[in-house]
Amino acid sequence: MCGIFGCISKNGNVAPIIHEALKRLEYRGYDSVGEATLYNGKLYIKKDQGKIDEVHKIHNLDDLPGNIGIGHTRWATHGAPLKVNAHPHTDCDEQIAVVHNGIIENFSELKLELENRGHMFRSKTDTEVIAHLIEEALKSSSLSLEEAVLDAVRRLEGSYAIAVVSTKEPDKIVCARNESPLVLGLGENAVYCASDIPAFLPLTNKMVVVNDGELVVLSPEGFKIKKISDASLVTREPKIVDWTPEMAVKQGYPHFMLKEIHEQPACLRNTLRLQEHYLDLMSTFLDRAREVFLVACGTSYHACLAASYMFSKLAFLATYPVIASEFVEQHGKSVNIDSTILAVSQSGETADTLAAVNCARQRAATVLGLTNVIGSTLTRVSRVYICQQSGPEIGVAATKTFTSQLSVLAQLALRLAKKRGKVSQDEMDFLAEKLESLPDVVEKIIETQEENVKRIAKKYKDAETFFFLGRGINTATAYEGRLKLMEIAYVPAIAYPAGESKHGPISLVEKGFPVVFICPRDGTHKTMVGNIMEMKARGASIIAVVEEDDDEVKGLADDYIEVPRGIPEVLSPIPFVIPLQLLAYYMAVERGHNPDTPRNLAKSVTVK
Ligand code: M6R
Repeated sequence: MCGIFGCISKNGNVAPIIHEALKRLEYRGYDSVGEATLYNGKLYIKKDQGKIDEVHKIHNLDDLPGNIGIGHTRWATHGAPLKVNAHPHTDCDEQIAVVHNGIIENFSELKLELENRGHMFRSKTDTEVIAHLIEEALKSSSLSLEEAVLDAVRRLEGSYAIAVVSTKEPDKIVCARNESPLVLGLGENAVYCASDIPAFLPLTNKMVVVNDGELVVLSPEGFKIKKISDASLVTREPKIVDWTPEMAVKQGYPHFMLKEIHEQPACLRNTLRLQEHYLDLMSTFLDRAREVFLVACGTSYHACLAASYMFSKLAFLATYPVIASEFVEQHGKSVNIDSTILAVSQSGETADTLAAVNCARQRAATVLGLTNVIGSTLTRVSRVYICQQSGPEIGVAATKTFTSQLSVLAQLALRLAKKRGKVSQDEMDFLAEKLESLPDVVEKIIETQEENVKRIAKKYKDAETFFFLGRGINTATAYEGRLKLMEIAYVPAIAYPAGESKHGPISLVEKGFPVVFICPRDGTHKTMVGNIMEMKARGASIIAVVEEDDDEVKGLADDYIEVPRGIPEVLSPIPFVIPLQLLAYYMAVERGHNPDTPRNLAKSVTVK
């Protein structure tokens, strides 16, 4: 996730306006920042790695000349967070500048093709291909900037919101959108394009939403929207937004956590755009290792636990999920050159995870990383790393982290299974198709179940304890549901593999004790029904997360939350965790707590 912004003003220089707007978009990423303006037929660019304030201090972002310009604040996905990879990116002759939010899936092919035709690339980003494609279109025929951008974006696969300026038409910004957000702002004396409304909200509340598959030409006279597919004109009336700046940053959601829960379909789509060779490389290391440890804390650990079932069931690889703070004590003496550590950390800065990684490195083990933050310590110490692609997560409770990490880990397990010849092509195709469908499945759960979960949270808001039970891979989902509820709603809760509950914890159960069952229709279903009966017999209130046609469990439950049917077991934690995230969120709200800032916690735990 990055932030893009563009502005054409009738009243003087735009650089300070862009700078301020980027500050308001900084929540979308802050690895590097850059601005480009046009003045007297020349392109002026300032950019560098670091946060906006740091870069401004060194370069003074405000003194770029010109009344038209674009800007970018970056959350690195392709290419390290270095100056060379900071946006805007330019063509060979530095006449065109592009800012981009999204992921261009086919950039490697396009880059090769362009390099073969003599284009010189400066960065490691996927974005730079766009500038060169536009350059070609402008040079090879007498196209306008608008037509050249149309030509270029028609060749792109993946997600993008772009803004482009060129010295050839110095009074225009051309933008286009596919799957990444883009809005226009219409002021008295200026027009704006941005990733998000907060960027221009202090300047105007008159806005236009740009839809997927649309291209926009901004000029001092206003805006024109066209369909990318057939260049037909689109008419759209501006709307007035009545959000406060604070509401705008949360896109109208009351809390970041709820916004981030709702972002999961989009994040999952992004995880499906990973560069294949990183997955290949990582699966090669996993394949060769004598022993594999999956090391992480909190939610990331729960993702590791679920992943250990994926690796075992799909690739027949035994892995050891270890809570990072225990790694040194448990394995510090035995880990060695034949061991591989896959460290999973949203922030890439968690002290316990890094301590485990350091211990492993000192003993010559191979370290692989899965993180959300390129440039974090974890990426620097990993032999290979993959980005979980979920954009900044601001709520202290990790939500989109869990589902994104699981989607990446599932792809890794599948890749390894293929390498090892452990799944048939039919099974691979089936699982790949199901993985592709997950963003829609998650969208549907949120759409159809949120009100239901809100009602359940109201009903159980005064419960003193909660019990979460799952079996198999969904033991991890149960643990994650408990962690969410404890950390933000402050409800003491326990979670167990359901089979273990009768070895002790069941003694807690008395009339009305809420027990949440994660109950997909997989191989564990029959025994789960037995566990539900055991709990019911002791007066527990059963809240079941079930597949939509599971009438048996619905009939036993006091309350149930439905998930679409037919999700393969190895992928089931992704949809099944959504109701538990919502439950924790609404329980926190019902109990009067701010879910974004739970007491005593920090987003990134950098002490041991
Ligand atoms: O950044 P990391 O993934 O390494 O963070 C790990 C834990 O600190 C984190 O998941 C924490 O448990 C969250 N508060 C869970 O919601």
